[in-house]
Amino acid sequence: MASKWFETVAVAQRRAEKRLPRSVYGALIAGSEKGLSSKDNLDSFDQLGFAPHIAGLSSDRQMATTIMGQSLSMPVIISPTGVQAVHPEGEVAVGRAAANRGVAMGLSSFASKSVEDVCAVNNQVFFQMYWSGDRDTMVQRLERAKAAGAKGIILTLDWSFSNGRDWGSPWIPEKINFTNALKLAPEALSRPRWLWSFAKTGHMPDLTTPNMAPIGTKPPTFFGAYYEWMQSMLPSWDDVAWLRAQWDGPFMVKGLSRIDDAKRVVDLGATTLSVSNHGGNNLDGTPAPIRSLAAIADAVGDQIEVVLDGGVRRGSDVVKALALGARAVMIGRAYLWGLAANGQAGVENVLDVLRSGIDSTLLGLGKSSISELSRDDVVAPPNFFRKLGE
Ligand SMILES: Cc1cc2nc3c(=O)[nH]c(=O)nc-3n(C[C@H](O)[C@H](O)[C@H](O)COP(=O)(O)O)c2cc1C
Repeated sequence: MASKWFETVAVAQRRAEKRLPRSVYGALIAGSEKGLSSKDNLDSFDQLGFAPHIAGLSSDRQMATTIMGQSLSMPVIISPTGVQAVHPEGEVAVGRAAANRGVAMGLSSFASKSVEDVCAVNNQVFFQMYWSGDRDTMVQRLERAKAAGAKGIILTLDWSFSNGRDWGSPWIPEKINFTNALKLAPEALSRPRWLWSFAKTGHMPDLTTPNMAPIGTKPPTFFGAYYEWMQSMLPSWDDVAWLRAQWDGPFMVKGLSRIDDAKRVVDLGATTLSVSNHGGNNLDGTPAPIRSLAAIADAVGDQIEVVLDGGVRRGSDVVKALALGARAVMIGRAYLWGLAANGQAGVENVLDVLRSGIDSTLLGLGKSSISELSRDDVVAPPNFFRKLGE
């Protein structure tokens, strides 16, 4: 039998494409509108090069760090991703893999598994929230996450409810009932391994969001949860400061592109911010985070932990982000491809690929630790960087 191990994230992605039904794969690729931002997230990393050394290299290379009070074996965090019909064990498999590899995990409030189930397998979970529901509802979600054992909160703010994709969004049913199952049957039947992985558990993906309802009540469907979010008041900066004050612990604001927003996030007392454009799924035309990172890190990096997410597919991408001022990166699609390709072992495989890529990049750059990285290690073309806001 062919080995299930893969040597790069790109190989995992090809396997995911073969294994997942077309609509599930399409929902992961996503990218809003024309896909300018999602393309730029990948292209921008390709435009950066390195300035390597060839002798006097270090045989000992250190990549452990801390984020939001958690020790990580390497500067990588699982980014929250919602509604996974990728694998029956979903976020629980991801949580186990992350725990086995010593990295923290962001769990989406739109996840398919409950915060209790994921915290039971991973004691470094950050619970992610959108600005959805009224204040009481949000406080209940914080309290539930705290009781489950979440170590921090990620508040994701970069969503503009843009819809429509030039390549045609996949059809996602409200729920899997008999009629919808029949509609999906042709594509599901063409992916027997995916179908069997769910069939053996006796359940098809139910597309519900258990973290969006109090424990013991019926969870809303993804569309139900999305509707609540769409109907919610848009937050002011005072609202965001209010929510931050409700959580006594590490608090990340995710989705920044601008320096002025970063300063506000510092002022409201967040511990961490993520320079991110939601993997290119939000306002199309937002530059790749790696372009905006350095200006934000220069402005606020001594006052708050700065992380980056968007486009990270290799260990060398992680090193580029660190050299440009990030303390760590978050990964989204990379681990979803691993999960699709080989479940928990596939996510571990992705994390191992990144670890070994970070290590070999540090070797090539002559570094003994990620703390020695600086901008001089990276070669950027003219006009690469973006400085948004003041
Ligand atoms: C399928 C999918 C679902 C996502 N769901 C969420 C979510 O529920 N909450 C959130 O904060 N970000 C969500 N994101 C964004 C990721 O957390 C992250 O910002 C993005 O995937 C990073 O880009 P990358 O996929 O290139 O690594 C999602 C991304 C994808 C691809």
